[in-house]
Amino acid sequence: SPQCQLSGLWRNEQDSLMEISALTDDGGFQGEYLTRVTLAGSCPRVSPLKGAQQQPSEVASPTFAFTVRWDMFSNATTTFAGQCFVEASGREVLSTTWLLREAVGSLEEDWKATRVGRNIFTRKRAPGG
Ligand code: BTN
Repeated sequence: SPQCQLSGLWRNEQDSLMEISALTDDGGFQGEYLTRVTLAGSCPRVSPLKGAQQQPSEVASPTFAFTVRWDMFSNATTTFAGQCFVEASGREVLSTTWLLREAVGSLEEDWKATRVGRNIFTRKRAPGG
C-alpha cells in the first residue's frame, strides 16, 4: 500500500494551517503552525512545532507526535499525537488527538488548565509541490 508522508502543507477542519519539513534520519521533524482559533481571541502568529515520527518510516500509516509552542502570542502549549493514513482515493489524512495546556496562576487552578480534542488534517499540497 502507498506510504503516508508527513512532510508538506496541511489544513485541519478548523482552518488551521501547518507546514512540516522533511524528516531527519531518525524520524524527527520541525515545522510551522498557524491556528485560526485562539483561547483568548488574541491575534494568532505563526508558531514553531517539533515532533517525531515513529520509525521505521517504511510503514504505510506511521504514528507521530509533535508539540506546538504558541510563544508569539500565548503561554499555552499543545501536543498532538496521531497517525497518517492514505485513503482509498489517494487522499492523505492525519488523524490526531491534542492536549492544550493553558498557563494558570496557581496550583488551585490546575484542574481547569488542560483541554483535549481531535483534529483531522488533509494535505493542501505535496512536499515540494
Ligand atoms: C492559544 O490560544 O493560547 C493557543 C492556540 C491554541 C489553538 C488550538 S490547539 C488545538 C486546536 N487545533 C487548532 O488548530 N487550534 C486549536
